[in-house]
Amino acid sequence: MERFVFFGGKGGVGKTTVSCAYAYRCADAGVRTLVVSTDPAHSVSDVFDQQFGDEPQSVAGVDGLDAMEIDPEDEMQRHLQEIREGLSEQVSAAMVSEINRQLEMSHGTPGAYEAALFDAFVTVMREESDPYDRVVFDTAPTGSTLRLLGLPEFLGDWIDRLLYKRKQSIDLFEKAAIGDMEPRRLLDGDPVIERLQRRKEFFEYAGDAMRNDAAFFLVLNPDQLSVNETGRAIEGFTDRDLRVRGLVANKLTPPPDDDEDGRGARYLRDKVETERDRLEQVREGFAPPLVAEIESRTREVRGELLSDVAAELNVETSTPNAT
Ligand SMILES: Nc1ncnc2c1ncn2[C@@H]1O[C@H](COP(=O)(O)OP(=O)(O)OP(=O)(O)O)[C@@H](O)[C@H]1O
Ligand SMILES: [Mg+2]
Repeated sequence: MERFVFFGGKGGVGKTTVSCAYAYRCADAGVRTLVVSTDPAHSVSDVFDQQFGDEPQSVAGVDGLDAMEIDPEDEMQRHLQEIREGLSEQVSAAMVSEINRQLEMSHGTPGAYEAALFDAFVTVMREESDPYDRVVFDTAPTGSTLRLLGLPEFLGDWIDRLLYKRKQSIDLFEKAAIGDMEPRRLLDGDPVIERLQRRKEFFEYAGDAMRNDAAFFLVLNPDQLSVNETGRAIEGFTDRDLRVRGLVANKLTPPPDDDEDGRGARYLRDKVETERDRLEQVREGFAPPLVAEIESRTREVRGELLSDVAAELNVETSTPNAT
């Protein structure tokens, strides 16, 4: 299995639960593992009953497992602040306040949160992953975020065009003021171009890591909405030449015993039957294999239950360089 493993899926299907179970399974197999949660609500802190923050911290009672939580809202604010600071050195004070207004507005757009999330997990991949053999994320890039992976080419073209224009105007300037070499220095340390170049490198890293060093799984529930959504998500990956490695069906209804025939048992039997059809649809309709079928527990999946769920996950834990 690749170093970076992502569990995506729509809200509430069990991404955090399955990520923690898989991370537990990896650590249990002796793989040094970090599990990263990106949702501020139910998160790894709940699962392990221990408070985690934005730095990796060891999980009590599980050898070889660390956890951290990143809050995309914080990331977004930090990102905005960075842009503001960068700008104040580059443009006049009057423009800064106008740009600030624009930034605040863009902050509210639907893509902004996803973009911040993407930035946050790529930063973890780049800067925090060194001590680990495996990093598990309880989210995966979706539609609009996957499109960001096309950014390096786009930014590359843009930077080339900018450089060309910049050079042209400097050449003209030099023709007018013969022998004055000062403008060349402007080009060398151009802060705008430098910034773009850094962004380009960031997305290059992201694209490369996502393509060569990451495996994506989708978690789903056995209802029609979740199955449809999973189909769309798989397409999103395929469109970007990425492959979904497997599907995890979670919260399946447990069947009653054969000799039970009360109202409750009939209800369960009916539900199990419907879900069986949905899973058949998943097996036949989608290319990625179903790698786990996890039943609904009567209570939250933590503690002992987590190792039970971990045992049901048919997802390998070995590392690329393991023999
Ligand atoms: N197999 C299961 N049996 C019983 N409860 C489960 C199971 N899987 C998940 N849950 C519970 O369902 C809730 C949602 O699960 P979880 O938080 O893992 O989903 P999520 O996809 O991460 O949600 P979000 O999109 O909000 O981040 C939690 O309370 C969790 O304990
Ligand atoms: Mg979650």
